[in-house]
Amino acid sequence: MPETAPLPPAPRSAVVTGGGSGIGRATARALADRGAAVLVVGRTATDLAGTAEGYDTIRTLAVDLTEADAPQKVVDTAVRELGGIDVLVNNAAALGHRALADVDPQQVAAQLATNLAVPVLLVHSALDALAADGGGTVVNVGSSGARGSRAWAGNSVYGATKAALDFLTRTWAVELAPRGIRVVGVAPGLVDSGFAERAGMSPEQYEGMLRHVGGLTPQGRVGTPEEIAWWIAQLTRPDARYLTGAVLPVDGGLSLT
Ligand SMILES: NC(=O)c1ccc[n+]([C@@H]2O[C@H](COP(=O)([O-])OP(=O)(O)OC[C@H]3O[C@@H](n4cnc5c(N)ncnc54)[C@H](OP(=O)(O)O)[C@@H]3O)[C@@H](O)[C@H]2O)c1
Repeated sequence: MPETAPLPPAPRSAVVTGGGSGIGRATARALADRGAAVLVVGRTATDLAGTAEGYDTIRTLAVDLTEADAPQKVVDTAVRELGGIDVLVNNAAALGHRALADVDPQQVAAQLATNLAVPVLLVHSALDALAADGGGTVVNVGSSGARGSRAWAGNSVYGATKAALDFLTRTWAVELAPRGIRVVGVAPGLVDSGFAERAGMSPEQYEGMLRHVGGLTPQGRVGTPEEIAWWIAQLTRPDARYLTGAVLPVDGGLSLT
């Protein structure tokens, strides 16, 4: 049997983008519950403070990640306040679907920047911190609707950013393995994270979508942020170390239909 190195310790430090709400908040708390010091990043300071409430080990950084100096600021803050970056969760995203006929240039630019350019620049800035102490883990949060040959009307731009993120996951897994860095993805199905307002939907549209997609899902319901966060935390465990480049659909079977 080939020899394996002893297991590294559980992650001691983690950065979660979009950590002020939904899946990001649940992920930050799941990682903190497992012993990591966590930096949550987003634009809304009050939301970030809500995530940190009751957690001494969760720090906050309010910044727009699409600003030019933001990635380096995130890395510098994490290294200073957490002592390093064992885990980086690229979770922040500009959500929202729109028919091509109704495309809005500002939304297109925000989705390409937030969902695609930000993860690239953030991982780039974090490379040395991630490679320290034997190598850390990057988790990219994609979307089960952008996997395989699936397609539906209105999902072109958002879905394209998520399909591209899966490609980054595979490519970085190969490129960064020699530095000991693992790169994995989690692709949620529809999750009741309360993202309606951010995605420009009315409460009625949001409720209707949850009902509709819940009905299409083999398990008969949409997911919860905690059900996604649990898998993200599992994938960062030291005993998950032989996994890299994989994207795990966590979607109640939706992507199989
Ligand atoms: N919910 C679902 O059904 C679902 C399904 C598939 C995939 N996902 C993915 O899961 C992830 C989390 O989504 P969610 O459902 O939890 O939605 P959410 O609550 O709207 O989370 C998105 C987060 O990103 C942050 N964000 C957006 N733009 C930002 C920017 N420029 N700079 C910094 N932070 C920014 C938002 O905070 P601020 O606005 O305060 O900055 C927010 O906390 C996303 O990657 C999404 O694509 C969600």
